[in-house]
Amino acid sequence: MPRHLMPMSLTLGLLLVAFGSALGQEQPAPGVNLLRGDSRVIEAGRQSYRQHCAECHGEEAVNPIAEAPDLRRLDSFCRRLKDPALQTHCRDDVDRYYLRSVNEGKVRAGVVHMPPWEGRLSPDEIWSIRNFIESRPRPTPAR
Ligand code: HEC
Repeated sequence: MPRHLMPMSLTLGLLLVAFGSALGQEQPAPGVNLLRGDSRVIEAGRQSYRQHCAECHGEEAVNPIAEAPDLRRLDSFCRRLKDPALQTHCRDDVDRYYLRSVNEGKVRAGVVHMPPWEGRLSPDEIWSIRNFIESRPRPTPAR
């Protein structure tokens, strides 16, 4: 782009951003659970979980002796936070970690501990599974 056009397009861009947020059209932070709080997807999440995750992470996501981590514990730290805004921020961070873990799988020292799910599960399926996990009774002792 010719140099003299830069400031104008920059201004236009900023205007569009300001206009967008004035209309309340701010995009949600990328990588977070857009289905959070939607209880209608829990049953679908339960089915996907059973089919794809249960063999390693435990039946019904409540088995504390499963070979893989108990996924209900992903949010333990966030649950202990008192400030609601901080708690949301914390949960969004865990969403991103969860999404990355599921999409990329887990490989350590060249050994695949969990296969990657990207392309095999849609984002909606991945978030339905997360809603299902969050609907499970809390692990004991409560952590
Ligand atoms: C073949 C067994 C296996 C399957 C199937 C599997 N996982 Fe995993 N998963 C693991 C293991 C083992 C780890 C821990 C690996 C590590 O930390 O190196 C893990 C880690 C994770 C983590 C990170 C947990 C943490 O505490 O850091 C998430 C999130 C996760 N799995 C979600 C899922 C979901 C959702 C499914 C189903 C779509 C699934 N996994 C299917 C074995 C599996």
